Amino acid sequence: MSVIEVQRLTKDYGSGRGVFDVSFSVEEGEVFGFLGPNGAGKSTTIRHLMGFSKPQSGNTRIFGKDTFENYCDILGKVGYIPGEIALPTGLTGWEFIRMMQNLQKCRNDERLEYLLNLFELNPEGETKRMSLGVKRKLAVVTAFMNDPQVLILDEPTSGLDPVMQEVFVEFIEQEKERGKTILLSSHIFGEVDATCDKIAIIKDGKIVSDFVANDLKHASEKKYKIGFADSSVYEKFLRTFEHAQILDIIEKNPSNYAVTIATDDKYISEVINSLSKYPLKDFTHIKETLEDYFMQYYKEDKDYGGALH
Ligand SMILES: Nc1ncnc2c1ncn2[C@@H]1O[C@H](COP(=O)(O)OP(=O)(O)O)[C@@H](O)[C@H]1O
Ligand SMILES: [Mg+2]
Repeated sequence: MSVIEVQRLTKDYGSGRGVFDVSFSVEEGEVFGFLGPNGAGKSTTIRHLMGFSKPQSGNTRIFGKDTFENYCDILGKVGYIPGEIALPTGLTGWEFIRMMQNLQKCRNDERLEYLLNLFELNPEGETKRMSLGVKRKLAVVTAFMNDPQVLILDEPTSGLDPVMQEVFVEFIEQEKERGKTILLSSHIFGEVDATCDKIAIIKDGKIVSDFVANDLKHASEKKYKIGFADSSVYEKFLRTFEHAQILDIIEKNPSNYAVTIATDDKYISEVINSLSKYPLKDFTHIKETLEDYFMQYYKEDKDYGGALH
């Protein structure tokens, strides 16, 4: 049985908004990355998973229990960081922490102390006067303070400064080592790439890709950039390999006498053997990042810069 299950979840808000037939599962001890730009449907999926909303169709389960029907039970067992933090007003940070401990029916002061130090959070003072960054830290600390086995984190690093984002990513790696089951939503490639075992990409409310992170890292098809000594060598290579079985020419750069090829690992000896007959200037492996892969689904997004907007 999977720890987290979303089965054919649909919530149609009209005009193409919402989530449609979303399914995925997270096994015990796995870190699952839920990646997509703003408005893709991450928070909608996660709110249903937390049992806050009733699905139009499909269902969501944690530990095999329907989350909408077992909402209180789930709150006590799952650490949750909401996408938008709305803290109750009229409370100090400490009062909020005590309130959450009561709700979670658990108190682990040693763990709390550790987290306050790690995230450099001083919970004195009223929540309404806290900056966004401090509010986010309070949400992080309260989600983790009772050491839950399952964590559902909706864009947990948004609002944190870059140093704290790094602290957070390292902390997630430690939590993974400790066997936690984690769902992490994000629009930032780097943090998902650094932490997740499995990744699903959501776009316009639908899952467009779902894969094991290592499969992508160890994909047998690889890309190489080859620079030739001069134009005659470059032209000769093109003529010879235009329709070759062992490699595909995916980009030509005549002004630099360079090409980018894709080839499968099983052909690499043959490719290198053939290339040894050509005078080369350089030969470079092009690393396919998660970001490159992700962009295949987002080609129409013009102005991204390491993150999707
Ligand atoms: N309560 C709601 N009523 C109407 N539309 C909503 C509601 N919640 C979300 N949406 C819409 O559903 C889509 C997905 O939103 P959301 O799940 O918040 O995306 P994400 O978390 O990936 O940024 C958006 O187009 C959003 O405007
Ligand atoms: Mg969101």
